[in-house]
Amino acid sequence: MPRLLQAARVTAGPYSWMAKRRERYGDVFSSHFPFFGRIVYVADPALIKQVFTGDPTVFHAGAANATVLGDALGDHSLLTLDEGRHLSQRKLLLPPFHGEAVRRYAEVMAAAAATEVERWPVGRTFALRPRMQAITLEVILRAVFGVRDGERMDLFRARIPRLGELSSPLDWLPFMQRDLGGITPAARFRKAVAAVDELIYAEIAERRSLGEDASAERDDVLTLLLGARHEDGAPMTDVELRDELMTLLTAGHETTATGLSWAFERLLRTPRVMTRLLESLDDDEYLDAVVKETLRVRPVVVDVARLLRRDIELGPWRLPAGTLVLPAIAAVHRRPDLYPSPLEFRPERFLDGAAESYAWIPFGGGVRRCIGASFAQVEMRVVLREVLRRVRLRAASARDERAQVRHVTVVPARGCRVVVEERLATPATPAPASTVDFVGPAPTKSTLGA
Ligand code: HEM
Repeated sequence: MPRLLQAARVTAGPYSWMAKRRERYGDVFSSHFPFFGRIVYVADPALIKQVFTGDPTVFHAGAANATVLGDALGDHSLLTLDEGRHLSQRKLLLPPFHGEAVRRYAEVMAAAAATEVERWPVGRTFALRPRMQAITLEVILRAVFGVRDGERMDLFRARIPRLGELSSPLDWLPFMQRDLGGITPAARFRKAVAAVDELIYAEIAERRSLGEDASAERDDVLTLLLGARHEDGAPMTDVELRDELMTLLTAGHETTATGLSWAFERLLRTPRVMTRLLESLDDDEYLDAVVKETLRVRPVVVDVARLLRRDIELGPWRLPAGTLVLPAIAAVHRRPDLYPSPLEFRPERFLDGAAESYAWIPFGGGVRRCIGASFAQVEMRVVLREVLRRVRLRAASARDERAQVRHVTVVPARGCRVVVEERLATPATPAPASTVDFVGPAPTKSTLGA
């Protein structure tokens, strides 16, 4: 198939494209795309394990990520670094994202959801994904950046969505990345990044000036990073902090919002599961299974990339240096031998025990596994629970929403259109003062994906 046509087919139906190619060609298959050249997909858990646990000097994820994430993330981003520098940043960033550590953010997440739901109109159709983006942005700003100043918070809320509006898959074309000034896309994007950078640097400067006592009562991620030390005892520089905050925003905001949108999209079309969930909203185990099954059947990111620095052998295949190897998340998740009736949304699969290793990989794997995996799963559980406690929703149409590629994530094509049928008698949950309003500036397009 011509390269452009292949690219068009993937963009219009990423899940089925990938699953069908595996059915037709087997567990290792390749495709040619414009500008990326030949890509090798791997859909067998044992071979995926080999890729994820392979020597990080041979399997470069940072170089592969940099081809689609551009330079907005800077020179110190965890996403675009490799080898020693990647490991050293990862060590600094991991502690605040440890399983137990992220539970402390559950209250911020619940409050952001509660405040947002209050603004939803009853009886009118609207797209849920931008509303989920408003929640996840609020959570990143409060729990990760630790912003408390109301005026700066409003500026962040107004400026960050611009980054998403200005990015598109066309940015992957090399000539689109050239900043020719004026109103060229690259120039407008850089201006939008600079506007967010200004706020990030102001926040860092203010936080550095706080005394130890004031910092001691804060537990946001930036506070923890300000106290983190490199192996030689040096603190992180302002530029390092900026690059990692931008990375966490880019990787964590739109991805989690999209995961939540798919959860609602599936729940609202699977009454049996919705009923069981509503009957057991306080049961973390079922809620967790709903989140896992959502990320299985509708993975937010369909593949992750490694650029080979040396020739390797992968099972019976010999792959030359320079090849892009991609564990095919969406194809593995739809293997009928691993997940019987793979298209069915059935959270119970995850109640019977954990999925086979390397068969459930929505967060990638190995030394590059998503550091926000626990954060995202806690957030998805908390937001689902808070929303379902407060409103009865229905899908605006009975038909499944199509999956569509938007930059590096896969979103419900219509944004998960819903109607609030009724507000329920709500339990009291503390809601913080917030000025994001329903008709206000809402993220509408992709930020940068993970
Ligand atoms: C449902 C939500 C999310 C999904 C589906 C997701 C998925 C992913 C995937 C597939 C990767 C690449 C892993 C690999 O190459 O093997 C990744 C990396 C990453 N994610 Fe997430 N992510 C989510 C939420 C988050 C959140 C909430 C944060 C932080 C606030 C975050 C921060 C990161 C970072 C920093 C990396 C780079 C890790 C590295 O290269 O060492 N992600 N994520």
